[in-house]
Amino acid sequence: IDPDFTPDLNCLVNPNQKKNQSRAVVDYAIIDDMKDKNAYCRCWRSKKFPLCDGAHLHHNNRTGDNVGPLLIKDGEY
Ligand code: FES
Repeated sequence: IDPDFTPDLNCLVNPNQKKNQSRAVVDYAIIDDMKDKNAYCRCWRSKKFPLCDGAHLHHNNRTGDNVGPLLIKDGEY
């Protein structure tokens, strides 16, 4: 990366999750644990990432975006 490069924070998909690591952020979920924790963040703004904490609501209100969590359900939806 160019040492003079300054990211445009308004264009980042991920504004603050795990920024201290140099590689792409990859998260894992154990299937058996997913039954208890079933809302996964897709807006990258959750303080409980990768779980949703509702931060997408503030993001959507501020930006006009319409992102929301991935819900894991047992059976049909
Ligand atoms: Fe990111 Fe809910 S907090 S989708």
